[in-house]
Order: sequence, then C-alpha cells, then structure tokens
Amino acid sequence: MYLEGNVIRILDAFEHEPLPNLEYVTAIGHGIPSSLLDKLREVAKQFFALPAEEKRKYSRAVNEVDGYGPDRVVSEKKILDWSSRLSLKVFPEDQRRLNFWPENPSDFKDILHEYVVKLKGVMDILFKAMEKSLNLVEGSFSSQFGDNSLIKARFNFYPPCSRPDMVLGLEAHSDRSGTTVLLQDDEVGGLQIFKDDKWINVPVIPHALVVNLGDQMQIMSNGIFKSPLHRVLTNTDKLRISVAIFNTPKPDKEIEPLGQLIDEKRPRLYINVKNFAAFNNECFQKGKVALEEAKI
Ligand code: OGA
Ligand code: NI
Repeated sequence: MYLEGNVIRILDAFEHEPLPNLEYVTAIGHGIPSSLLDKLREVAKQFFALPAEEKRKYSRAVNEVDGYGPDRVVSEKKILDWSSRLSLKVFPEDQRRLNFWPENPSDFKDILHEYVVKLKGVMDILFKAMEKSLNLVEGSFSSQFGDNSLIKARFNFYPPCSRPDMVLGLEAHSDRSGTTVLLQDDEVGGLQIFKDDKWINVPVIPHALVVNLGDQMQIMSNGIFKSPLHRVLTNTDKLRISVAIFNTPKPDKEIEPLGQLIDEKRPRLYINVKNFAAFNNECFQKGKVALEEAKI
C-alpha cells in the first residue's frame, strides 16, 4: 500500500502519481536504518542532559544560526516557547562551524554526519517524486535550490512543563524552508498541524520521518504544495526531542513559481523572491506574514 492516511512509502513514491496534496506526510520506507534514527535521538538526549555550563560552551550568539540556546526574544510581550534548540549548518560542508558541534557525547558529530548524508539522499528522492507528481521536468524544483543548497539541522528539546495549558513548546508557525524533514520523539507526541480550521495531532510513528513543506516550496509550486501552520504542545512529565532538517534555496538564488505550473486556470500567485530568510525578517519586523507579502 502506497498511501494510507498520511503515510507514504518513500521508495515507492516514483511508482505512483500524483503525490498526495496533503499538509504533511509521514514517510516510511525511506531507507535510513532504524538503529541510526535511535542513535541520533540518543546522542541528542545525552547532549541535552549535560550540565548547563557544559552546554553554554555552544551558546548561539545573537543573529547567528549555529549554536545552542532558548528561543530568541523578539518582543517583551511574547510568551517564550518552552524549548531549547541546537542549530547547526550541515551543508554545504564547508559552511559547517564545527566548534558548535558537541564534543560530548563523543559520537555526536559522526552520527549527525551519517544521518544528514543519508537524509540528503531522501530529500533528493522527494524532489523527484514531487516533480514527477506534477509532470515537471526532473530538476525543476531542485535547480531552484541551487547547487549545494543550504541544509540546517535543528535539535528541539522540550522539557516537561508543569502548566501545559499556559505555554506552547513551539508556537504556531510555518517553516521558511523549501522542505523540512522531521524526526520526532519515539514516544512523546505534541506536534500539531492546522487543517480545516482545527489543530490535528501528528501521530508518533517511531521510525518514520515527517515531511513538512515550507514557504519557499509553496511559492515555487505556485501554491499547489502547501506550507502548513504547525505548533508543538508541551506535556507535564516527559522530555520530548525532535530533529528538524531544513533544506533551503541558496540566499543568492531567486526563486519563483515554476512556469509550467502557471496557466489560465491557475494564474501566477507569487512574485520572485531572493533570500527569503531576510525577506521574512523584514516582514516580521513590520508585523506582516512573508507568504502574504509575496503574493501578487
Ligand atoms: C520546527 C518544528 C516540530 C517538532 O523545528 O520548525 O516545527 O515536532 N518542529 O519539534
Ligand atoms: Ni516548524
């Protein structure tokens, strides 16, 4: 069975068309060994369990991507998310800032490297499946990302919270990326996607990956693929860990809705955008939503 609910078997994705137009898919059959996924979660947990002063060695500086820390304080009124994060650029390899990659546990670096190399292969297959499902020439999406697109890893740590009714683990947002692939905690749920005016729970499937498309894919696909609003709830007694991998077009690369996806029935919805992260920040400062501002 290729598709059951939101579950997609990745390695079969070529055989079937069209790719389901869902808010997210949970991918199984992705070919990454379960043992590697377990190890990645394990080293993440070990890092998070280190004493605060040890983790502080990896603190993220203001306006930097790489490093460990809590939520960025963007306004005094905002309630902070109940989580900490470790963000690391993983590709292109020459942009890695290895001094932010934990030394402890000692196998952290190797396991992250092994995971992202494999995941990059999965992301390539995904691109091809998405292109095929819309009858596009192979490379239509991936060429907009540029050679050596930017790939970033974000480890999310959601500690137990005594008042889950008061605070979110991660507030509602859509990802700015092109594509995001998320390894969820193997026991603790909490991720929700906004669909048909309600929040729905994304089920925990221990060795599956959650594929969640970002704003830039919505632009490139001329609105066909959606970048859904999602959030994370907290819970009272368990730590939750997730590892998000964001694949983003190079900042100097202009992205645009693909010509093949524009016609009379589906007129062009978005303008060309370069450096979406910067554009997003500008919009955010003005209290605007980037995807709305990019509309024609
Ligand atoms: C994110 C995100 C969800 C999760 O990092 O952008 O949406 O389950 N994470 O941690
Ligand atoms: Ni997200």
